[in-house]
Amino acid sequence: MRMKTTDLTRIYRLGPSEITAVNKVNLEITEAMFMAIVGPSGSGKSTLLHLIGLNDYPTFGKICIDDADVSLLSSSEHRKIRLLRMGFVFQTFNLLPTLSALENVELPMALAGKSSKEQTEKALRLLEAVGLSNRLVHRPKELSMGEMQRVAIARALANDPEMIIADEPTGELDSKTAKEIIALLFEINRKKKAIVVVATHDEKIVDVADRIYLIEDGGLRLQS
Ligand SMILES: Nc1ncnc2c1ncn2[C@@H]1O[C@H](COP(=O)(O)OP(=O)(O)O)[C@@H](O)[C@H]1O
Ligand SMILES: [Mg+2]
Repeated sequence: MRMKTTDLTRIYRLGPSEITAVNKVNLEITEAMFMAIVGPSGSGKSTLLHLIGLNDYPTFGKICIDDADVSLLSSSEHRKIRLLRMGFVFQTFNLLPTLSALENVELPMALAGKSSKEQTEKALRLLEAVGLSNRLVHRPKELSMGEMQRVAIARALANDPEMIIADEPTGELDSKTAKEIIALLFEINRKKKAIVVVATHDEKIVDVADRIYLIEDGGLRLQS
């Protein structure tokens, strides 16, 4: 996947006040890139990730995937692209509390219409790859935070995404666990050639990124 944004802008209107959370962002994301977006709290990181993850609509500007403008597609078409081509990892994991680790990883494949045999085989493989073969039947509350994030990463990989979008994925983790999670994202990026876009203020992620962008007041600029 290649993604290009042109003057991507998101303005939140709350009553009489307007907040320009993302301001004219021009970004090119190419195959297999590991990209970090750093910036202080409130600078627009999550808003930008929601836009490029087709989870929100820009107020102005556009997003192209492989040269096709996707900004005006319907939300159900966006949902399909998200499900089949993207994977999301959040700071607070967003696992379904009533489902086991295995079931959480199977879910995106169920939504994509995969057979239950395929769902289970793939989920087992993914959980093994993230080092959780011994936690299959555990529910989220029976897992450590690092383990929850591994499940979330396995879930994000379920439909072989071309792009993984991670919003402060190590924000809730201690520094040792954070390092392991970053190493895992890096390994996925290098092995599966999946694009990884991480919003963070974690220096350790910045160390492994191919490209680092700084966002301030919604404006993005290349840092290195
Ligand atoms: N749903 C919303 N409605 C109104 N303002 C919002 C909303 N979400 C975020 N904002 C504002 O937009 C700005 C950017 O927020 P956000 O993208 O969450 O930043 P970050 O992820 O870098 O902390 C902040 O000023 C925030 O208060
Ligand atoms: Mg945020």
